[in-house]
Amino acid sequence: MSDGVSELVSKLKGVVGDNHLLREADLTAGYSTDWTGRFQGRTPLVVRPANTAELAEVVMLTAEAGFAIVPQGGNTGLVGGSVPLNGEVVLSTMRLNDCQPVDQLAQQVTCGAGVTLAQAQAHVASASLDIGVDLAARDSCTIGGMIATNAGGINVIRYGAMREQVLGIEAVLADGSVISHLEGLEKDNTGYHFPSLLAGSEGTLGIITKARLRLHPHLTGRCTAMLAFDNVDDAVAATSALRRSVTSLHSAEVIFRDAMHLVCEHINSAVPVGANSEAWLIIEAAAPSDPTEELAAAIDSLGRLVVDVGVGVDSSSRKNLWQYREKVTEAIAAAGTPHKLDVTLGASKLADFVTEVPSIVSAIDEGSSVYMFGHLGDGNVHVNVMGNAGVEPPEAVDAAVLEYAAKLGGSISAEHGIGTAKKEFLHLNRTSAEIFAFRSIKHALDPRQILNPHVLLPSEDS
Ligand code: FAD
Ligand code: MLT
Ligand code: ZN
Repeated sequence: MSDGVSELVSKLKGVVGDNHLLREADLTAGYSTDWTGRFQGRTPLVVRPANTAELAEVVMLTAEAGFAIVPQGGNTGLVGGSVPLNGEVVLSTMRLNDCQPVDQLAQQVTCGAGVTLAQAQAHVASASLDIGVDLAARDSCTIGGMIATNAGGINVIRYGAMREQVLGIEAVLADGSVISHLEGLEKDNTGYHFPSLLAGSEGTLGIITKARLRLHPHLTGRCTAMLAFDNVDDAVAATSALRRSVTSLHSAEVIFRDAMHLVCEHINSAVPVGANSEAWLIIEAAAPSDPTEELAAAIDSLGRLVVDVGVGVDSSSRKNLWQYREKVTEAIAAAGTPHKLDVTLGASKLADFVTEVPSIVSAIDEGSSVYMFGHLGDGNVHVNVMGNAGVEPPEAVDAAVLEYAAKLGGSISAEHGIGTAKKEFLHLNRTSAEIFAFRSIKHALDPRQILNPHVLLPSEDS
């Protein structure tokens, strides 16, 4: 071992113990490649501290030794921000996995950053409460990673994204100091709001160690429906009408044609309703009592906008409908290595965007396929572009799709973040004054560029 790694390892042994310092390539491989397989890095060292005090010391010693750090939770991030693409040390938060007892009076909980979403959901369910954000990576993604990416998911129309769930935060800054503000006061105007600053900061400003989360009543009355549409305009109009009329609307998700056919092939199923349709909505209503009547009346009033409907009221038929939406990501991954683009558009621009994107892509690379799906209720379309035979498409397709989204007034990152994949496109949504302000914040909190220095901000010379 050279370049100061041995010295660092011997110092860190006294902090986290030998078992939590991984050096061999076969042990570090899983921490060095992202979920999609598109981003493959290498690291001299993975460190797994058990608590905030250990983590703070690890950051201090690693910074002192001159290494940069990539914070990593469940490594389900989709923008190349969670893996060591430039030889950084990986700091895994997976051992910060304690949940404190649920505060039933306040309807809040404090969780360690390494608690997975599924663990947190199970923990608060025992008090008949729920976490406001839910997503298909729930078994692996962590509370810290979800805050760091400001994750969205399938309930944003009801409860907002991760930022809206965080009432307090504890984090380790680049110099090893700890900021902690976990009282969970709903009103607290005592200066800068660290939860807001760290939400969406993608590991560049601090390493989140604990979070105080707002909880919501666990709604046991559920009804799920799949609606098929002849065209994108109709699906958008129906989503708007449902958002207005169904007070218990919990999710309004979408799958467009090619993604629907791919997922059906993947799970070996026929298209469940409206086989020749262009778009399918998966909608869910959730309430303390059965919301089926409310949802059924609203679907009826959509009239001829809807081509066909399937309804799930018990848990197995609801799960059956959800799998078409939740397994799209897995179906795409099984087909190859896509470029994953994640945009939001205003409601009036969604149909133009979804209709135009396939021809924008094929004008650049005729062999590429485009799979679109997402969270229609909040205008979020996931555009997955796959090159011929499952290989990566040319980078030029990313530029063309993101430029088109920006031209329509949309965002080039709805919920996955910027990471390394989108940082050279940040200027499409952010002015140079904004990017300068971002750099000033980064410099103030991390002057030595220790925390995820290659993520989020574009290269200085671009
Ligand atoms: P990681 O992948 O480990 O890290 C993500 C980023 O956060 C990195 O930049 C990392 O450095 C930083 N980070 C991680 N932990 C910390 C910490 N404690 N402190 C500071 N920085 C940290 N995302 C959505 O928004 N909505 C979805 O619906 C959704 N669905 C998904 C479905 C699948 C099947 C998959 C694979 C991913 C999905 N994602 C979705 C993306 C991903 O799950 C989320 O972004 C999630 O929030 C990442 O959590 P993680 O713990 O895996 O973070
Ligand atoms: C989803 O909504 O399923 C996710 O954001 C994952 C993806 O984009 O593949
Ligand atoms: Zn999503």
